[in-house]
Amino acid sequence: MFDSTAPIGIFDSGIGGMTVASAVTRLLPKENTIYFGDTAHLPYGDKSTAAIQAYSIKICNMLLQQNCKLILIACNSASAAAFELVKEYVGSKAHVLNVIDPVVDYIKEHYDGKSIGLIGTKQTVLSNVYKKKVDALNKNIQLKSLATPLLAPMIEEGFFDNNISESIISSYLSDQSLKDIEALILGCTHYPLIKKQIASFYGSDVEILDSSEIVANSLRAILDQHYLINEKGEGKRQFYVSDYTLSFEQSTNIFFGRQIQLEHYPLWE
Ligand code: DGL
Repeated sequence: MFDSTAPIGIFDSGIGGMTVASAVTRLLPKENTIYFGDTAHLPYGDKSTAAIQAYSIKICNMLLQQNCKLILIACNSASAAAFELVKEYVGSKAHVLNVIDPVVDYIKEHYDGKSIGLIGTKQTVLSNVYKKKVDALNKNIQLKSLATPLLAPMIEEGFFDNNISESIISSYLSDQSLKDIEALILGCTHYPLIKKQIASFYGSDVEILDSSEIVANSLRAILDQHYLINEKGEGKRQFYVSDYTLSFEQSTNIFFGRQIQLEHYPLWE
């Protein structure tokens, strides 16, 4: 019922979801993708559940108008706040995937009886969505979480690899609530951009779980299962933002290592 050449829609509040988008395009280079960064409402992590739900529905509307075969919520905060609602809203018009379930499935396979840390936005951590899903596995996995609300805005401002980001990261990771963990879930799609600094804080003692590749593999499995892998696409990439800012454009160019053409698409007019 879907056309395999139809695009994959991917959204986040800003550049974070591009960590997942680029894992998807590396794995499936022929897929056409439409990326939406809701820069007008960034950061999502401090917004109410109702606000994130309203933004997510608006974005999905736009992606459905472009006939997306699959919508990937490339944001933990929106996955926590709006996945169920989006799934219901989209119905049979497209497949919907979030960034939390693939990671929980991965943990189930690899971390039986272990102690795992989670860092993410306030929305993601306070919603307890990871904890509920991990507890439901019945694998005796202890999840220790910490909200790290400064990290996404810091990254969005281009602070990935300098003294300021290093001291904020080490101050968060030294928190007692993350003591004695064997792995750390990067529960925000912005965080792979500071993965190197997080990894160097821990040395080799703690595995850093970056969801981008795990999610890209799940996405491929869904497409495969429904015979929707694009074999003849040209790998067209489109980028939309709800508010155009120079800093976003610069970050995007740094991220992809080439000039990216951003299109302005206001969500409310
Ligand atoms: N990248 C997002 C996430 O995964 C959102 C960060 C934010 O906008 O607060 O949670």
